[in-house]
Amino acid sequence: MTNKYKQIIVANWKMKLDVDQAASLASELKEILKPVDLSDKKVVLCPSFSAITGVSKILKDSDIALGAQDSLYENSISTSDLKKLGCEYIIVGHSDRRALGDTDQIVNKKALAVLANKMIPIICVGETLEKYEAGQTKEVLARQVAQALKDFPNQYFILAYEPVWAISTSGSGKTITPTEAIAQIETLKKNIPANLDNFDIVYGGSVEPKTVASFSKEFKGSLVGGASLKAQSFFEIIKNS
Ligand code: PGA
Repeated sequence: MTNKYKQIIVANWKMKLDVDQAASLASELKEILKPVDLSDKKVVLCPSFSAITGVSKILKDSDIALGAQDSLYENSISTSDLKKLGCEYIIVGHSDRRALGDTDQIVNKKALAVLANKMIPIICVGETLEKYEAGQTKEVLARQVAQALKDFPNQYFILAYEPVWAISTSGSGKTITPTEAIAQIETLKKNIPANLDNFDIVYGGSVEPKTVASFSKEFKGSLVGGASLKAQSFFEIIKNS
């Protein structure tokens, strides 16, 4: 599996929509994107677990892909079931999960389980505000990347750089400049094991229709939370990517 797209735009709906709202947003996006040429852009929707089945039915026969927001590794059924439900992508290591106890080792195991089930892991890495202010961004990224990719086979994966403090729900009120985010692409690449050459790096954290183009100049796409919850703003992000 490789990536043939210039941009991958992932909607992370978190727990913001109930099953009905998720289904209607998916239908709205499917409609709005019908006339859009998506041959070089991959759009992925990651609803909450309870909405996956409904959204999967809606996205069938569309160019929009389905993803999940997390998976387990202990019981492989939970991961393979996501595949059966139509998921192609799975977010692992999101800062919300790391805050709930997902260690680098757990992130690694989850990502490996996703690969073993022939799906694409979207592995989130990023420093907290405390580490950022202490000037330790590079160290954090080095550790998170190296550990997340431990024992990886050379199979396609996505790395999402999400500075925790720049996520809209972090409460910091801060956003990162595209220049500062882009500067970390090198840090990420430097820490990817040399035998892995099949990956893309996307950016996440307060991506908006107005700002996405300056990130997508260098990043291969974006992971979008808040601005993916309305069809029009997510549509504009896709268009401007
Ligand atoms: P945000 O969320 O776009 O609302 O900052 C991004 C994320 O948490 O993945």
